[in-house]
Amino acid sequence: MKRDLIAIGDLSDRDILRLIAQAGDIAADPKAFSRALDGALLATLFLEPSTRTRLSFEAAMLRLGGRVITSADPKTSSAAKGETLADSIRMIGAYADAIVLRHPHAGAARLAARLSPVPVVNAGDGGHEHPTQTLVDLFTLVREKGKLDGLFVVLYGDLRFGRTTHSLARALTRFGATVLALSEPGLHLPDYVLDGVRQAGGSVADVEVSGLEGLVGGRPRGTLLAPPGRAVGTATLFLAPDQVDALYVTRLQKERLPSGSGGLRALPLIDRVFLEAAPFRRAVVLHPLPRVDEIHRTLDDDPRAAYFRQAAAGVPMRMAILGAVLGAFPPLEAPPTGPAPVLDAPPCGESACIAATEPHAVPAEAFAAPDGRLRCAWCEHPLD
Ligand code: NCD
Repeated sequence: MKRDLIAIGDLSDRDILRLIAQAGDIAADPKAFSRALDGALLATLFLEPSTRTRLSFEAAMLRLGGRVITSADPKTSSAAKGETLADSIRMIGAYADAIVLRHPHAGAARLAARLSPVPVVNAGDGGHEHPTQTLVDLFTLVREKGKLDGLFVVLYGDLRFGRTTHSLARALTRFGATVLALSEPGLHLPDYVLDGVRQAGGSVADVEVSGLEGLVGGRPRGTLLAPPGRAVGTATLFLAPDQVDALYVTRLQKERLPSGSGGLRALPLIDRVFLEAAPFRRAVVLHPLPRVDEIHRTLDDDPRAAYFRQAAAGVPMRMAILGAVLGAFPPLEAPPTGPAPVLDAPPCGESACIAATEPHAVPAEAFAAPDGRLRCAWCEHPLD
């Protein structure tokens, strides 16, 4: 049976820990794995811009002894002629042994996985999820901080449209980390991410953050996500000296902002002054990149600036992922069955959902969230 990798929630804790360990083994001795996927062929289909994700997947495949075919420019793929994703995938699934897909619409990778006879790996589906970036992020945190359990991680930036944090927030709390999500109003984490944290036994609270006065202007409000067993009992969160283990920064996702949202501004720049604040003195700085203007370049040679080490970790982690999906390493466990689908779901109204853009290929599907609201099974947005 083929095994896709579509969402971080599809992976068991054991899968994630095994991938981190495998990536560590590969990083320690990459040559030992240079024939692991001899003769296998990967297709990368990227219908949105990418530098790191595509090149690190392709480098990973080549370093495992496999080969790669790629369609990296939406303008030169048949999508420019109006071909649907469903049709493209039916063919590419006959050309290669696995597909890595990046697509502008939420739910695209799940649709591709349903139609493809070969494994599909989600390299970013619109503003929804980016599970392989999360695996790279977790691997980086383990290398930088030696553990995940007990870490205190601040997510900072565009948390609404930045897909990396949607996968990361859910994964971190599963592994015992506490997450403080800091963003401008209008750019906070979507409800479905908070629901995911609650569903896994964690808790969520809006907090007023003290200890950052002078940095982010007054007392910012944030969302605190606590792992299972560590309830959030406070409306005011005082950030103590050295409390923050990692600061995960994301750029404003300008390409996903709805028109008319010009008023949204980015949070203050991360620079040396910012990191001199007592809570951040021991914090490593992560960013999925590309950075635009969120992190000052003078920080690059600070030992706490971990974002280029994080990008480099993409190759061994993606070698571990491809090896697991293509049978060179122990396979991933079967994904959880999830909540029962709701029949006769109303159509999804999200314009960036694959169910709205390819309705002929995608049945309307929904599930009931813990609060009883119906959510689209493709993009997770509420249907009412
Ligand atoms: C991110 C993405 O594409 O979501 N980049 C990446 O994959 N490393 C982050 C971003 O584009 O801001």
